[in-house]
Amino acid sequence: MKIAISGKGGVGKTMLASLLSVVLAESGYSVLAIDADPNINLAAAFGLPNSDEIIPISRMDDLIEERTGARPGQMAPYFKLNPKVDDLPEKCSLQYDGIKIMVMGPVKAAGTGCYCPEGALLQALVSHLLLEANQVVILDMEAGIEHLTRGTAKGVDKLIIVVEPSMRSVSTGRRVRDLALEIGLQSIGVVANKIRSEREKDFLTAKMADFEFLGFIPYDEAMVEADLAGLPLVNSSARVMAEVRSIAARLDKLK
Ligand SMILES: Nc1ncnc2c1ncn2[C@@H]1O[C@H](COP(=O)(O)OP(=O)(O)O)[C@@H](O)[C@H]1O
Ligand SMILES: [Mg+2]
Repeated sequence: MKIAISGKGGVGKTMLASLLSVVLAESGYSVLAIDADPNINLAAAFGLPNSDEIIPISRMDDLIEERTGARPGQMAPYFKLNPKVDDLPEKCSLQYDGIKIMVMGPVKAAGTGCYCPEGALLQALVSHLLLEANQVVILDMEAGIEHLTRGTAKGVDKLIIVVEPSMRSVSTGRRVRDLALEIGLQSIGVVANKIRSEREKDFLTAKMADFEFLGFIPYDEAMVEADLAGLPLVNSSARVMAEVRSIAARLDKLK
């Protein structure tokens, strides 16, 4: 199963990616979490030390050249579009409790017509990684889903759009869904995050009545505290962890 997570900046994509990874790992899955957001912070959400010193794969020029035939920034007329990636999760990942974390780093958007080598490598990772039955890939994406192209979408099974109670996050959520449908991704669920009241929950269910909701994560000050103190988001709030567990259970039922 490959799950992509998208939504407006700050809504809680990285929070959900890290907590969902932990929950799925607890239930026996072998999890590969990929940070594909240019603002690298997934490793920090797990509380990995020195996460700000991680060299993202998109900056590993030698590796990218070895796999694609071109260096980042080089507009080579030809590079391999199907680079070998199967060994990368083993070679280029950090570990948290058995969860593999890969940091892609900034990659130019595929939609801009730039077929850069680092983009080709990310695309190959998403679409060509062969998974065994008990393996899950979780993609922490940036606000848009520009990285997802028709080719990548084939590899993604489910898209989770994260929203918070704000009109802007709803608009972004709609835009993300339109893009996703355009490239043929149909299994799409919404996770509402930072919910403080029934009113906020009702706001989202009314504004997004045509979406399938996977769950409603409460706003918990403990998450903000963790963030301010530079502590991991994982396990900082029992209430939030509990809701992520039920979201994980509902994922299987998503069409
Ligand atoms: N349920 C929640 N309650 C309170 N704060 C939250 C919650 N979820 C996320 N946050 C906080 O919101 C901020 C943004 O979350 P993050 O996961 O980094 O968003 P994104 O990856 O979408 O940009 C972080 O400071 C995080 O601690
Ligand atoms: Mg993020």
